Amino acid sequence: MTFRLIITGGAGFVGSSLALAFRRDHPKWKVIAFDNLKRRGSELAIERLRAGGVEFHHGDVRCSDDLEAAGPADLLIECSAEPSVHAGYQEGPHYLVATNLGGTINCLEHLRRHGGDLMFLSTSRVYPIAALRALPLERQEDRLALPVDSSGAGWSAAAGISEAFPIAGARSMYGATKLASELLIEEYREMYGVRAVVNRCGVLAGPWQMGKVDQGFVVLWMARHVYGGTLAYSGFGGAGLQVRDILHVDDLYDLIITQLRAFDLHSGATYNVAGGADRSISLRELTQRCQRLTGRHLQVGQVPETRPADVPFFVGDNRSVQAATGWQARRPLDRVLEDVHRWLVDQRARLEPILGT
Ligand SMILES: NC(=O)c1ccc[n+]([C@@H]2O[C@H](COP(=O)([O-])OP(=O)(O)OC[C@H]3O[C@@H](n4cnc5c(N)ncnc54)[C@H](O)[C@@H]3O)[C@@H](O)[C@H]2O)c1
Repeated sequence: MTFRLIITGGAGFVGSSLALAFRRDHPKWKVIAFDNLKRRGSELAIERLRAGGVEFHHGDVRCSDDLEAAGPADLLIECSAEPSVHAGYQEGPHYLVATNLGGTINCLEHLRRHGGDLMFLSTSRVYPIAALRALPLERQEDRLALPVDSSGAGWSAAAGISEAFPIAGARSMYGATKLASELLIEEYREMYGVRAVVNRCGVLAGPWQMGKVDQGFVVLWMARHVYGGTLAYSGFGGAGLQVRDILHVDDLYDLIITQLRAFDLHSGATYNVAGGADRSISLRELTQRCQRLTGRHLQVGQVPETRPADVPFFVGDNRSVQAATGWQARRPLDRVLEDVHRWLVDQRARLEPILGT
């Protein structure tokens, strides 16, 4: 029997990268990228997917009949989402909740009825905003940082924020739909035996991410440096000191194949998956790196106001996933930036209409 892999959101950044990598490494598998093409730029994936032997299935996770039409899956990787933490504040939560939570439930039901395992891409945004803002951050040159040797419940300066970080408090509608999905996944696992692994990813980056102001800031930053346009440091006074760690999407693929080799062992686990302290960067530092790579100096503006879902710092603690799987991120931050830069230059004709201003 042919192994069937369905990747929902399979025309998106992560979904298409995983689909092509799985198909490359498993040419006998049937790999299906399921997507409603909501995200601007996802349509560019269709040609790439076909060229790589991945079947594209136009469908919407909000609609169980669409999933039914895609057929059963031995493994379903749930990558469809409205992935912006700022979504819902202006336009209301309907699409976000129906896709991010309703879509997960439809995927779970699909697997309950037909069998198959679930790999769920959750987010570091399940951790509450107020608690993250309350971390004792201090300025260290061009970035915010935790004081050396400091630590607290679920965090430490040395390792970052772990799965033990207290979960009480609001986290944005995006974060809430992901946390609610995690809870239902656990119930489906316990009640119906649907095996599932939850990876709470921090910032992922790499080629084919359609970066925009709301989501995908690494690509947005580099695209403005390559194609021109305006950029602004937004929030926390507009100084650009806020920090994230970055994980190359190919390192995520390496982790997922490691987890698949021992799915029973990892089923039921929830892991923080991040680039970690070694791959952390502030916006100001990112500007400097983009300048060095592109030779272009942009005047970055300032928007001092902090948006409701902004957090000044997130560096994920990878130790539990490393201990459980032996996986370690292999690609340094420079590699992420170089890959994104090269892709923007090589694909300029197709990307500039989408990623340019
Ligand atoms: N990129 C990151 O930094 C990051 C970090 C943490 C978690 N994640 C999670 O990883 C997953 C993939 O994120 P991404 O960066 O590839 O986002 P993306 O926006 O590039 O991809 C999501 C895809 O889902 C599709 N989609 C949206 N609504 C849909 C619906 N109702 N039915 C079917 N398809 C739909 C979009 O068209 C898009 O192609 C998401 O679940 C996201 O929350 C991403």
